[in-house]
Amino acid sequence: MYVAQPIKWTEHGVVMLDQRRLPAEEVSYTYTDYREIAKAIREMVIRGAPAIGVAAAMGAALGVLHSQAISVEALRAEFTEICETLAKTRPTAVDLFWALERMKRRFAELTSKSSDLGTIRQGMVDEAKQIHLEKKATDQAIGSFGAEFMPSEGQVMTQCNAGALATAGIGTALGVIRVAFEQGRKIHVLVPETRPYLQGARLTAWELHKGGIPLTLITDNMAGHFLKSGKVGAIVTGADRIAANGDTANKIGTYQIAVLAKENNVPFYVAAPVSTFDLSIADGEHIPIEERSADEVTHLQGVRIAPDVHAAHPAFDVTPARYIAAIFTERGVARAPYIDSLRALAASRDTVATARSY
Ligand code: MRU
Repeated sequence: MYVAQPIKWTEHGVVMLDQRRLPAEEVSYTYTDYREIAKAIREMVIRGAPAIGVAAAMGAALGVLHSQAISVEALRAEFTEICETLAKTRPTAVDLFWALERMKRRFAELTSKSSDLGTIRQGMVDEAKQIHLEKKATDQAIGSFGAEFMPSEGQVMTQCNAGALATAGIGTALGVIRVAFEQGRKIHVLVPETRPYLQGARLTAWELHKGGIPLTLITDNMAGHFLKSGKVGAIVTGADRIAANGDTANKIGTYQIAVLAKENNVPFYVAAPVSTFDLSIADGEHIPIEERSADEVTHLQGVRIAPDVHAAHPAFDVTPARYIAAIFTERGVARAPYIDSLRALAASRDTVATARSY
């Protein structure tokens, strides 16, 4: 089945598919400068929490690889600057910061063992590629755990795009749907278009269509109508950051779907890797919400659709844990009370088997 490849490390540089141009055109660019990777993350060439993490890790590796430093001290100073630049791109998805922390740990390990710059550079490239490989294995495991909760037949709703484009694996929410579909479940996906950026219409519809999974595209304001129909067996979305109590930030519009799900007795599930947990924050009140340009609300693909008035664009919202029936991760399924189950999963050993070659 078709799996999109949003990012790949190659001998020429980091190749990324420009998601801003989908579904009209499939255009990829090769990046050799970490600053360009930072710009690409900010400008949504690549988006989706785990995929942003992979891009940041590869950006950090690129920065070290192409650094002109001739001593470990100079390289360390430059690496700090590289990580700060990449960290300033998007604030909500914690995978970005998780990936940079991991690259920092690897840098510290490598420089404590060797002062050979070639060894350090290669070690950083290997670590970024390893993160990408692990994301692929993680998605497969999330898919296997979550598929059990999908109906054997009927409609499943999602929100935004939590597919291969968003994770650099098979997807989290769409990974669950994909595995369930491959198991023979007769699933039909309801895809809200996800205004204002249209990740549902442009990306999820594109991925599902290419993968041969049946779908119906709906506008965001149709979600309640369909949830009330009694035909939707489950909802599964991704996550950008999950607080210690289970409150979950995801694409704007997720919260209203979760509330409508409760009202209509439809289980609302979240699928996300453990790297999306942020146990340092008690609840969703502390999750930073990215405020994007209001032009993305007043304009559609560059065409003005509203008068020149004030518009708001919070890019994410927070779904309180009480609306979430379960959280699927690569280490198992978390249930309420999340304060205990998330902590237990975070502390448990990673059982994801990772391919050894990139
Ligand atoms: O602004 P985006 O497109 O980066 O937002 C993406 C989402 O909100 C996804 O649902 C989330 O990152 C989970 S992706 C597996």
